[in-house]
This record gives sequence, C-alpha cells and structure tokens, in this order.
Amino acid sequence: MATTATTGRRGAGKPHIHEPATPFFLPTILDESGHLDHTRAPFIEGISAYREQNMTPFATPGHKLGRGMDPALIALYGAEAFASDIPVSGGADGIHFDLDTWRLAEELGADAWDSDRTFYLVNGSSTGNLAFLTAQIRPGDKVIVARDVHKSLMVALIQSGARPVYIAPELHPTLDIGLGIEAHRIDEALRKHPDAKMIILVSPSYCGVSSDLAAIADVAHARNVPVYVDEAWGPHFHFHPALPQSAMDSGVDGAVASTHKVLGAFTQSAVLHIKGPRVNPGRIAATVGMAQTTSPATFILATIDGCRRQMVLHGRKLLDVAIELAEDARYRLQRIPGLSVLDAESLGVAAYDLTKLVIDVHGLGLTGFQVENELRYRYRINPESSDLTSIICLVTLGDTRESIDRLVTAFESLSRSQNGSKPKHAATVVRSSGAVIAPGIQAMSPRDAFFSRQRALPLEQAAGEISAELVIPYPPGIPVLAPGDVITVEKLAYLKMGAETCMYIAGAADHKLRTIQVVDEPKQSAWTQQPYYSNLPTH
Ligand SMILES: Cc1ncc(COP(=O)(O)O)c(C=O)c1O
Repeated sequence: MATTATTGRRGAGKPHIHEPATPFFLPTILDESGHLDHTRAPFIEGISAYREQNMTPFATPGHKLGRGMDPALIALYGAEAFASDIPVSGGADGIHFDLDTWRLAEELGADAWDSDRTFYLVNGSSTGNLAFLTAQIRPGDKVIVARDVHKSLMVALIQSGARPVYIAPELHPTLDIGLGIEAHRIDEALRKHPDAKMIILVSPSYCGVSSDLAAIADVAHARNVPVYVDEAWGPHFHFHPALPQSAMDSGVDGAVASTHKVLGAFTQSAVLHIKGPRVNPGRIAATVGMAQTTSPATFILATIDGCRRQMVLHGRKLLDVAIELAEDARYRLQRIPGLSVLDAESLGVAAYDLTKLVIDVHGLGLTGFQVENELRYRYRINPESSDLTSIICLVTLGDTRESIDRLVTAFESLSRSQNGSKPKHAATVVRSSGAVIAPGIQAMSPRDAFFSRQRALPLEQAAGEISAELVIPYPPGIPVLAPGDVITVEKLAYLKMGAETCMYIAGAADHKLRTIQVVDEPKQSAWTQQPYYSNLPTH
C-alpha cells in the first residue's frame, strides 16, 4: 500500500469564508498507520454528505433530486436513486473541486490496481483509449497495433492521426479464435520498424485469451517503446492469482479496463491506468479531460469507488466464488451432448480468463443466434453474446449457485429437445483464414481514409478500392477491413459469405454489407503521390 501523505483539502490552513458546517469527509484517507485506507470511499461519502445538508439545488441536473422526473422513472428506479444524482463540482466535491473528492478517490484507485496514477472514466474504456493515444501520439507517428483492436481504438487511431503497422494475432486452427500476440512478433515488428512510437494491444481478447504482456513489455522497453493495453475485459485480473496477470502487474505503461463489464460498477464506468517513465501524466490528465464529458455522473464515479473498495477488501474471496462457479458451470456444460466449452487447454494458451464461458453450440444443430433466442425467450436467460457457432456467458461476482444451475439446466433441456439433430451449420461456419484477416496493404492512414470524400459501393464492385470504414466480423472480432486498407477480392468473398450466413458484422455503416464505404478520391493522389507505406502498389 502506498504511504504518500494524502489530505482531503487542498490548501488546508488557508482562510475559507464559508466552510461547510460539517466537513464532507475527514481530511485524510490515511489510516492510523499511515496507509491508504481502503474502507473509505470519497465519492460515496461526498454524496451522503451532500444529502445530509438538505440543499435546495438551483443547479444541474435539472430534475432537482428527482422532483422533475417522469413518475414512471421514479417508480422504476426509486426516488432515492435520483436524490443521489448530484453533480461532482458543488455536489460530491467542493465548488472548485477543493474537497479533492475526485483526486482522493483516484488515489485509492491507483493503489488498488497498482498503477502510478488511475483516472476514473464515465464513458467507458472507449474514452481511455482515445485519451491515451491522443496524449502519447502525434499525427503521423508510426505505431504497432494488434489487428484485433476494438472499434474504440480504431477511433483513437483516426483521431490521433497515427500510422498503424498492424500485426495479425495467431488464430486457433479450427475454432476461429484469436490466440493473442506473442512477444517475438513484437520484437520482429520493432526490428522492422525501429521508428515505431508505441505498441498497442488488446488483452484479454473478447473470448478471454491473454497475451504474455510481461514478455511484450520487456521486448518493447528494451527499445524504450511504451506498451498500451486495452484491458477492457480484465479489470478483475489484479485481484486473483488464478486469473491472467494484469496489464499493470505485467509492467506495461498504460492500460484501460471497463469496471462495468465484469465488476460491480455501473455501465459506462472504466479506469485508465498509467505507470512508469514513458508516459506523460499531465498530458494524459489533459486528454482525459478533453475526452470526458464536463458533466460526469457522480453516481457512475461512486460505483467505481465502491467497486474499488469491494475488490481491495473482499476481491480475492468474491473472485474465489465466481471462479469456482464458472469452473463448475464449465465442467457441467462440457458434459451436455452437443456442447463444448473453451478453456486454456483446448485453446493451447497459457493465460485464460476462467470466468468467461465460451460455449460452442453447433453440435446441437443450432447456430449460436438460435440458441441465444431459445435461452432468452424460452428459458429467460440473457447471454452476453452469440455468433454463428457459440454463446458467450459471463460469470461474475453477481452470480450464485442458483444462477449457474439455471444456466446449466436450460442447456440440458435444450440439448434434450435437440436430441438427434445433426449439426446443420458446421458446413456453413465461416472460418477466417490468413488472407482475409491479414492486414494486407494500407494505402492511407485510418485518419486520412476516414476524412476523405467517400461513397457507398456495392460489395461486388469494391475490389481494388480503399476502405473508408471498419468492417469487423464476429467471430473472431478482427477487422477484415480498417479505414485505409486496400480491399481485396479474397476479403470481399469472405465478407459476402459472412453476410449470407448471418455473421454478425460490426463497424460498417451497412450492417448487412450490401454496400461498403470506400474512399472517393483520385487514386493517383491518395496512393502514389504521397504514399504512406513502402509496400504500396506503384501502378
Ligand atoms: C476490447 C474492448 N475495448 C474497449 C471496449 C469499449 O469499452 P466501453 O464499452 O467500456 O467503452 C470494448 C467493448 O466491448 C472492448 O471489447
């Protein structure tokens, strides 16, 4: 635990004309022995203190503690919820943030996740991705990027104006699942591109596979290149040894994690961590401020506060239970005819998030989409997602023996009712393969492609054009096209087959992929006069 002296009032000792009658909270978050006191929760305390003061607000939010809310919403959430929807400045914190509520809460966050500094975010990991890249990259900088990036990182590449050199993750030979990036691939990329300014990765993947971040950090740091990890799906890793090593514990320079995804915090909450000498904290603070709303929801911040306290004080025990429940579910589901559930062994990976249940259902003779419908409308179970072959279910601190039994029982019943059905979809499962998910040729930077004049072209006519948009089929969630990529015949054939087999396609303006957005500018100027990449076609 950090022992930096931390006071609750900036400029203590300065005369204040109007002191709050009762300080919102004690002017320190240190315990008696000088350690940060994780039983404290500055945002939660600040909201409680505000409510105790019986304020009459003439300030935002306009619903005025719920009094102006639609009664149906009051009935839904309860009046108490709205009475706690107060602003940060002049609400949970001092008028000019002079009670340091936010700063103290983040200081506890940094200690909890073992970072140098942690920023609390109210617009998800998406904000953290944008803030980190905007702070650390200049337009035109070369960056090495794992190709399985989330859309929000692609947005950050567009906004920052970086020139990505993509690395395709290894794929499992039959399961269409990304296996992460190995350190030697980063090493090779850095040898080839010694001018690269940053390594950008997603780990864990949506399916729960983690890369060896410590080895990657070693390779990158040997050349003094910072590593940034989108750890949206791993905010719990730091709190249990059976989970993959967290990004901060692996020694990377920056990481974002969505506290709302698998921990007990509200939707939209996330944390951005930084550590070490290769990042500029002041600049990141500034870009976080630029990327976030200027009216952050105190109730979202309070849930990060509460989740941090819960994880520091009880995380190990709570995760023991969640992991045990997930392992029990995995064991039982695996034995149901027609199902198979992924684990580290079946994937052949070293680090896997045990709380993720990726359930391959095609042996039931149904697609994942059909199974999701069955689960939802027949058994009242709401999975995280589905695709052609599988269902993903998350097991978290919110699960119980009963919820797991319900899931397993539903699958047992579904399997019985499908008894004897042949897998109808095995033959139509679209497998990604090298050429279609390989980054291929980049004719422009994502930013230039995105801001270019564009037009929608029927898919069949788009070969040889430059994509102006992101096209990400799930699985495996790896962009087949990113803005700036040259569209190839192979990629088009794959996308066409995917669209025809109900593959879920994210990112594209036309989700059914009848058309695709392409750059509508003379190829001469875009491609050959100012080439970004040496591997551009010269014809
Ligand atoms: C890998 C990854 N990064 C970032 C995000 C964005 O997270 P958020 O919804 O918290 O903004 C997601 C969302 O699913 C994601 O899967």
